[in-house]
Amino acid sequence: MKDNYGRRIDYLRISLTDRCNLRCIYCMPEEGVPFRAHDSILRIEEIVAFTQRAAKAGIHKIRLTGGEPLVRKGVVDLIREIRKIPEIEDISLTTNAILLPKMAGVLRDAGLTRVNISLDTLDPVQFTYITRMGKIEDVFAGIQAALDYGFDPVKINAVAVRSLDQDFFAFAKLSLEKPLHVRFIEYMPVGKSTGGTGAGWTEADIIPANEIIEAINRDARKEGIGALEPVTEGGLPAGSGPAIYYSFPEAQGTVGFISAMSNHFCSSCNRLRLTADGKIRPCLFSDEEIDVMAAIRSGSQEAVDLAIQQAIGIKPDEHHEERSTVRRMSQIGG
Ligand code: GTP
Ligand code: 5AD
Ligand code: SF4
Repeated sequence: MKDNYGRRIDYLRISLTDRCNLRCIYCMPEEGVPFRAHDSILRIEEIVAFTQRAAKAGIHKIRLTGGEPLVRKGVVDLIREIRKIPEIEDISLTTNAILLPKMAGVLRDAGLTRVNISLDTLDPVQFTYITRMGKIEDVFAGIQAALDYGFDPVKINAVAVRSLDQDFFAFAKLSLEKPLHVRFIEYMPVGKSTGGTGAGWTEADIIPANEIIEAINRDARKEGIGALEPVTEGGLPAGSGPAIYYSFPEAQGTVGFISAMSNHFCSSCNRLRLTADGKIRPCLFSDEEIDVMAAIRSGSQEAVDLAIQQAIGIKPDEHHEERSTVRRMSQIGG
C-alpha cells in the first residue's frame, strides 16, 4: 500500500486507551482524562475487525500504545487475536512498564514479540516529579521482567528535555551490560491548545541528537569506554520506527536517537494510527483524521476499506508542528 508520495504504509499504531496509571507532565493532565462513555471507545472485537482490514490493505506490523495500553481490559485477548491474522508479522507494545512484572508472561504467551519502555530519567526523585506519582523501582522491575521473559529487543524511550538536565551518559551505559536499546527522543510540542505542553517546556527544550551524542562521547572517553559508533545492518535491533542506532564497542545493546524535530523523517514515514475513539490519524502532527467508528460498527468491510484508503489519501508529505494542537500525546500514543 503506497500513499500519494510513494511511501509504503505497512505499520499501524493502535492506541487502546487515553488513560494511564501515571501522569507524565508533558502527556497527561494532573487529574487524568475525563471518563468517556464506554460506547465512544472501540471494543476489542472492533479493533480486531479493523486490523484484519488494515492487514489486507498492506499493514504487516502493529504497535499497541495508549495512554498506557496495559491498563486496557482485554489487551491480552487482543494480542492473541491479532496474532492469528496471517499478514501481521510483528506485534509490539509501548508501555511505562509498571504492569510488566505482573503481565509479561501472559503477554509473551499471547504472542507479543517486543516491548518499548518509556523512562525519561534514572533519578528516583525526578521520576516522581515527571510522572507526578510513579516509583522508579516499579519501572526497573518491569524492565527486568521484559528481559527475563525473553522479549527481544527491549528498548527504553527517554524523551530528552533541556530543563530536565538528564544524565545521558548514565542512560547510555544501560546498553553496556544488558541487551537494552536506549533511545533518546527529541521532545515534540504536541497538543498545545489543550495544555499538552503542561510542563511549560518550549522550543528551547528540544535537544538535537548531535548534542547528546557529543555529551555522551565526552563522558565515555573520560571513562575509557570508547565513542559511540553507528550500528551496521546486522547489529540493528528489530523495529519499524525512525530511530538511528549507535553502540559502544563490545556493548550488548545500542543507543538510538529519534530526531523528530531536528531531522524530519517524514519522507520515510510508513505508518497510520488508530485512536481509541475510532479515528484514523495519518500524521502525528496533523489534527486531520478520518472517523472509522461508524464504518466498523456497520459491519461493512467495504466502508472500513474506504476509510483506510481515505486516510492514506490525506497523509501529508511532511509534518507541520502547528497543525497538531488538539489531541495530547496520551490520546495519540506517540
Ligand atoms: P520501533 O518499531 O521499535 O522502532 O518503534 P517506534 O520507535 O516506532 O515506537 P515507539 O512507540 O517506541 O515511539 C518512540 C518515539 O517515536 C515516540 O516519542 C513517538 O512519538 C515517536 N514517533 C513514532 N512515530 C512517529 C512519527 O511518525 N513521527 C514522529 N514525529 N514521531 C514518531
Ligand atoms: N515528545 C516526544 N516523545 C513523547 N512521548 C510522549 N510525549 C512525547 C513528546 N511530547 C513518548 C513517550 C513514549 C512514546 C510513545 O512517546 O515517552 O515513550
Ligand atoms: Fe502514561 Fe506514557 Fe503519558 Fe507517561 S507518557 S502519562 S506513562 S501514557
